[in-house]
Amino acid sequence: MDVFGLDIGGSGIKGAPVNAESGDLLGERVRVPTPEAAMPDEVVAAAIEVVSRSGWEGPVGCGFPGVVKEGVIRTAANVADEFVGFDLQTRLQKELGTPVRIVNDADAAGLAEVRWGAGRGVEGTVLMLTIGTGIGTALFIEGKLVPNTELGHIEMHGREAELWAADRIRKVEDLSWKKWSRRIEEYLQKMEALLWPDLIIVGGGVSKKSERFLPRIETRTRVVPAEMLNEAGIAGAALAYVPETPVSPKPPAFTLTQEA
Ligand code: BGC
Repeated sequence: MDVFGLDIGGSGIKGAPVNAESGDLLGERVRVPTPEAAMPDEVVAAAIEVVSRSGWEGPVGCGFPGVVKEGVIRTAANVADEFVGFDLQTRLQKELGTPVRIVNDADAAGLAEVRWGAGRGVEGTVLMLTIGTGIGTALFIEGKLVPNTELGHIEMHGREAELWAADRIRKVEDLSWKKWSRRIEEYLQKMEALLWPDLIIVGGGVSKKSERFLPRIETRTRVVPAEMLNEAGIAGAALAYVPETPVSPKPPAFTLTQEA
């Protein structure tokens, strides 16, 4: 099935048609900058521009940087507060005249990585992070997504983790890669202590520069860069249409060892 994957981010809105079986992008990626104030009407208009510039008329899967419940936005850390309570799904469906499904952006990227990228076939618990304007998280247990985890907002050093360790903060505070690596290391160690994942996938804008920080980081868990880089958000958004995606092999049967 072909679906248009739309990725609404804090700094850009990107989209392309996607083959939802293979994850391949079927056309050119269109990008427009996210409007400055990121108000719902402006973001909707920009999203529609991306879809119409591509000449697409079919179904649309869309990633959004906040909690999404049944198409309605529940949190908006990096876009206007006016998004909270906004029924983005119904609004886009009306304006585009096609069916639309909305998912959290990190969940979308995670779905793509677990299906086609660095998390392919991995058993157990997989944590995907998207590190960019904020820190997004997607948690998978035996290939099944636990939607809307918001672990970028745990408190660290008196701040929300994403306000201390996101890539945006590295730039704003002009941190060296070495200094910033310490923060990410501490954040990853916190995630390990809370979730004990079997694999952590680091995605988002920084995944392109993973050699600058991943080798400096010590963790008990295997940490790998995302394989699909920035395309994960678009390809994964298309999977909003195919939610019951079998991503991992069946886990081994659980047996209780009986004491003699
Ligand atoms: C939002 C998440 C989102 C992440 C990455 C966070 O501020 O709360 O929902 O996934 O940013 O965009």
